[in-house]
Amino acid sequence: AGFVKSPMSETKLTGDAFELYCDVVGSPTPEIQWWYAEVNRAESFRQLWDGARKRRVTVNTAYGSNGVSVLRITRLTLEDSGTYECRASNDPKRNDLRQNPSITWIRAQATISVLQKPDIVTSGEVIIRDSPALPVTLQCNLTSSSHILTYSYWTKNGVELTATRKNASNTEYRISKPRAEDSGEYHCVYHFHSAPKANATIEVKAAPDITGHKRSENKNEGQDAMMYCKSVGYPHPEWVWRRKENGLFMDIANNSGRFFIINKENYTELSIVNLQITEDPGEYECNATNSIGSASVVTILRVRSHLAPLWPFLGILAEIIILVVIIVVYEKRKKPDEVPDDDEPAGPMKTNSTNNHKDKNLRQRNTN
Ligand SMILES: *[C@@H]1O[C@H](CO)[C@@H](O)[C@H](O)[C@H]1NC(C)=O
Ligand SMILES: *[C@@H]1O[C@H](CO)[C@@H](O)[C@H](O)[C@H]1NC(C)=O
Ligand SMILES: *[C@@H]1O[C@H](CO)[C@@H](O)[C@H](O)[C@H]1NC(C)=O
Ligand SMILES: *[C@@H]1O[C@H](CO)[C@@H](O)[C@H](O)[C@H]1NC(C)=O
Ligand SMILES: *[C@@H]1O[C@H](CO)[C@@H](O)[C@H](O)[C@H]1NC(C)=O
Ligand SMILES: *[C@@H]1O[C@H](CO)[C@@H](O)[C@H](O)[C@H]1NC(C)=O
Repeated sequence: AGFVKSPMSETKLTGDAFELYCDVVGSPTPEIQWWYAEVNRAESFRQLWDGARKRRVTVNTAYGSNGVSVLRITRLTLEDSGTYECRASNDPKRNDLRQNPSITWIRAQATISVLQKPDIVTSGEVIIRDSPALPVTLQCNLTSSSHILTYSYWTKNGVELTATRKNASNTEYRISKPRAEDSGEYHCVYHFHSAPKANATIEVKAAPDITGHKRSENKNEGQDAMMYCKSVGYPHPEWVWRRKENGLFMDIANNSGRFFIINKENYTELSIVNLQITEDPGEYECNATNSIGSASVVTILRVRSHLAPLWPFLGILAEIIILVVIIVVYEKRKKPDEVPDDDEPAGPMKTNSTNNHKDKNLRQRNTN
């Protein structure tokens, strides 16, 4: 048997948790055990079991081509400090008490040091109500620590806020115009010289505000529709989609099995597959609700018939037909006008007629 991955030493703070990994290869697949000793002496090791130390210890082991095991200890106390050992063996005589375990088992050790967590006093949680809200100041004071502070900063939803780094045990973060999008989980984080960083949490809460959605979705029957809503506000909302029926928004009945909803923290998506022109068009509402309040917006779904894509073509066809009709009618009406035009070569006849008139006049004169 041999180690692919062996546990790594760590320094932790009281109240936190640690995990040790052990990955062993061998044929047949080796058995894995975890052992602990407060002082690193062979005779003081005791085996660790899943559920030990008032269920703060969990051991998860899986045997496949390798043996893989994870030891996890939560809510650490100073007494959890010590040496942790991963033991592995595929020796058939490994559990024979007459054998010396140091020969039949291979071992890998890690040292865990648990230090007292520094005390951080914080200002309480904040709720941002309707604007204009008054400025908010978040405060953290490091009141006791046996370690040398190197720097502190603030994070929002796990992301460091720019220009908040400093080297002082009291620190503040000011939100001058609090809005829903400023809500979230804020942490003040303290880094120490040769000790793990420590943090404290301040929750800034606000009712959901829906910041993105489609006003309308236009599709053809048989196609799929997708509607979504995005929100700001903390805690993250519970999402509900409803449909207007007889003037009231009702929960969507999914009898046809064509409705699919994906909910993320600040995002929800409603998909309807194989759109039906008789059932599906209408108003759909997404509703976001958290402990502070709720918000909703409406998307209008229009479903066009199968023929709809033909409409532009039919339109052109209709235009052509109308044009043809106009031309034909025009041509027909033009014909009677053209008759006199055909007589134009009869111009000389006109002169003849004037000649006739002249003749007549002459005759008349003659008669006179
Ligand atoms: C932090 O300390 C300052 C003075 O140093 C005090 O004004 C403030 O109230 C303290 N904040 C908290 C949350 O204890
Ligand atoms: C922060 O201040 C402490 C004492 O005031 C000092 O020992 C430490 O070196 C400072 N750290 C930095 C990064 O300036
Ligand atoms: C705050 O401390 C907890 C516990 O140690 C840790 O899981 C978390 O990642 C820390 N958060 C930040 C923002 O440092
Ligand atoms: C939604 O949450 C994700 C992570 O949970 C974040 O990256 C994203 O910026 C958030 N979007 C909004 C609009 O708050
Ligand atoms: C609707 O029914 C389908 C099929 O039974 C299912 O896969 C889908 O998750 C359901 N959608 C909702 C929103 O319950
Ligand atoms: C959202 O739905 C909840 C019930 O689920 C309701 O109490 C609330 O009034 C709705 N919010 C809006 C803005 O329609």
